[in-house]
Amino acid sequence: MKTVRTHDKIYLTTNRYNKPKKAFEFLYKILKKKLSIKKRYKVLDVGCSNGELLFFLNKKFRNFDFHGVDLRNDLIKLAKNKLPKNITLKKKDYTKETLKGKFDIIIVSGVIGILDELDNFFTNIKKNMKKNSILFLFENLNEYDYDIMIKYKDLNSKITSYQSGWNIWSIKKIKKYFKSKKIIIHPFNIDIDIKQNKNDLIRTWTIKIGKKRYFLNALNILQKQSWFEIR
Ligand SMILES: C[S@@+](CC[C@H](N)C(=O)[O-])C[C@H]1O[C@@H](n2cnc3c(N)ncnc32)[C@H](O)[C@@H]1O
Repeated sequence: MKTVRTHDKIYLTTNRYNKPKKAFEFLYKILKKKLSIKKRYKVLDVGCSNGELLFFLNKKFRNFDFHGVDLRNDLIKLAKNKLPKNITLKKKDYTKETLKGKFDIIIVSGVIGILDELDNFFTNIKKNMKKNSILFLFENLNEYDYDIMIKYKDLNSKITSYQSGWNIWSIKKIKKYFKSKKIIIHPFNIDIDIKQNKNDLIRTWTIKIGKKRYFLNALNILQKQSWFEIR
């Protein structure tokens, strides 16, 4: 089935540089606990989009070297306009190529659900990792041993192809790429309500079940995202 991915265009119009996503604030809290502020870290954000996460972390950790890559030219161009010049930004498809060098921390947030095949992507990620590098993956991974491929079509859109973006990979699948590492799960529990956007029902909103909030969108599948720390 031929699929497309157009939804990442939304990052051309979002502006959360000074009001980051709650998931990014949560990552900052985790990093602050785990990292030494005296050490210098080389950090890479793969699928950095418009650079909102890099912008936020760069303000918090002034002595780190930040790098970002994204598949989309338009997003990298925008990031280059918005981000300070000390942050290196490059257009790259990480299923096909890598950056040269090794990084202490690699962040991959909301990317692997777009991919139907992970081998090349993680081979390339691993080329950038040293033995003690840490990978932070933000995703809705399946605690059960099932990989789930999802395609959707918006019947009110001019785009007639099915779109990708919401595959649910299993934790078991990810473990296969990192046999010598352990995975620490930091469940993300959002503490604010996000309203449904009637103009874009693929954007997630929150619903409350008991005392917890979960993300949902028009695909009608509950999202349980976590930061997966692979070290
Ligand atoms: C859902 S967005 C997430 C953006 C950001 N990381 C965040 O968490 O808000 C996914 C991003 O990954 C990028 N992307 C998708 N496939 C990629 C690939 N193969 N290599 C590099 N970037 C990719 C997209 O262009 C998009 O900017």
